[in-house]
Amino acid sequence: MPSSPLDEHAIKEMVRGVIEQHGGERSALVDMLHELTRKLGYLSGAVFVALAEGLDVPVGEVYSVASFYTMLLTEPRGKHLVQFCESAPCHLAGGNAMLAMLQEVLGISAGETSTDGNWTLIKTSCLGQCAEGPILVIDDHIYSRVTRERLWKILAQYAEEVEV
Ligand code: FES
Repeated sequence: MPSSPLDEHAIKEMVRGVIEQHGGERSALVDMLHELTRKLGYLSGAVFVALAEGLDVPVGEVYSVASFYTMLLTEPRGKHLVQFCESAPCHLAGGNAMLAMLQEVLGISAGETSTDGNWTLIKTSCLGQCAEGPILVIDDHIYSRVTRERLWKILAQYAEEVEV
């Protein structure tokens, strides 16, 4: 997932293209925000302005929709993006304890990026693997049935690149 900033003109062009793909429908705003997050790595102020202009809605409305969904990053992300499913089936499978452990080990709360820039932790809604919960995603890798022991092993895989 790229996180390098584009200039304002390039962002406007990208946003215009995404709006066109969705037929200019305001109801597709969340999908547009997700797509732009995937393309850009995070949503900057220029993205909000371009979306607001393109959809003819107040920029505050775009921002409040983006801020409501914690999985939509509104700041540059860390080197590794850690997503933890907080939906009910994963929660019942012990997800809350795993999330607490993740927050303790990484030293950040959900929605934050570590000061060394290595980790961004976010909570997500269901990732479609409910029978295998708790589910953890680090960058593009999905980890299922995460236990305390597995969590240590998973994070250790990244220890060569970053200090865990
Ligand atoms: S509830 Fe976690 S993957 Fe569906």
